[in-house]
Amino acid sequence: MVLLDGKATSAQIKDEIAIEVQKLTAIGIKTPHLAAILVGSDGASLTYVNAKVKACAKAGFESTLVKLPEEISENDLLNEIKKLNKNPEIDGFIVQLPLPKHIDEQKVLMAVNPDKDVDGFHPTNVGKMALNLPTFLPATPFGILELLKRYEVETSGKHVVVIGRSHIVGSPMSILMAQKRTAGNATVTITHSRTKNLKEITRQADIIVAALGIPEFLTADMVKDGVSVIDVGITRIADESKKRGYRLAGDVHFESVSKKSSFITPVPGGVGPMTIAMLMKNTLQAAKNRS
Ligand code: GUN
Repeated sequence: MVLLDGKATSAQIKDEIAIEVQKLTAIGIKTPHLAAILVGSDGASLTYVNAKVKACAKAGFESTLVKLPEEISENDLLNEIKKLNKNPEIDGFIVQLPLPKHIDEQKVLMAVNPDKDVDGFHPTNVGKMALNLPTFLPATPFGILELLKRYEVETSGKHVVVIGRSHIVGSPMSILMAQKRTAGNATVTITHSRTKNLKEITRQADIIVAALGIPEFLTADMVKDGVSVIDVGITRIADESKKRGYRLAGDVHFESVSKKSSFITPVPGGVGPMTIAMLMKNTLQAAKNRS
């Protein structure tokens, strides 16, 4: 079993990005600047956004965190987005999800200028992604492709089973893996909560992407020997024995599934850090596009 080490791989990518930033600034191109909007004070979202901002600083980017109250109106949030769209200093920005229930997520994502949409969530960019045209790929699927590529996990002609159909991971992942690209050319099955006989399908998979958000859902009896497993889940589970009061669990029962796996991502330290590295890659690209 080979561990797909997202922590080490993302550190390598961030180093590569930092070197490129130095080269660009040396020839007079402005430092990439990422902004993030965080609405409310959800602990997990705050952790993720802080990690994104910290990673930017480390690679020599500028970063801005816009913290807005939970009760903000949809209109006021749309105005904040308009400001970032117009601000020439900002190369790319993200709106951290989920948003409070009174805000229409789709309306918000559609307000982001597609040229600054480094999350790749705007319909224009989703359309380009689906057509395999150059665009910002959503950071988590992009990170998974990069991890598969760098570890030379064979995907061509393989059966990839994606569990989960979210707009952020499952849906784009299924599209990308089927495309003609490195870490692509796969035969893809996308499954979800209405799928019948899921276990029969996952047992046929060469590669499984678990992105449904149910801790330790994928168990050893659901996979064949030699499978490669990408665990996108990251759920906080109350655990009094831990200092911070919780432990992190993926969507995969790592202990049992890893024994049958060729390649597997750990949680934490797998897909999560890759997401941040690829967001930075997109921001660097946005800055280059604008220069
Ligand atoms: N919430 C969970 N994943 C993501 C992501 O990739 N981007 C944003 N903006 N919010 C998220």
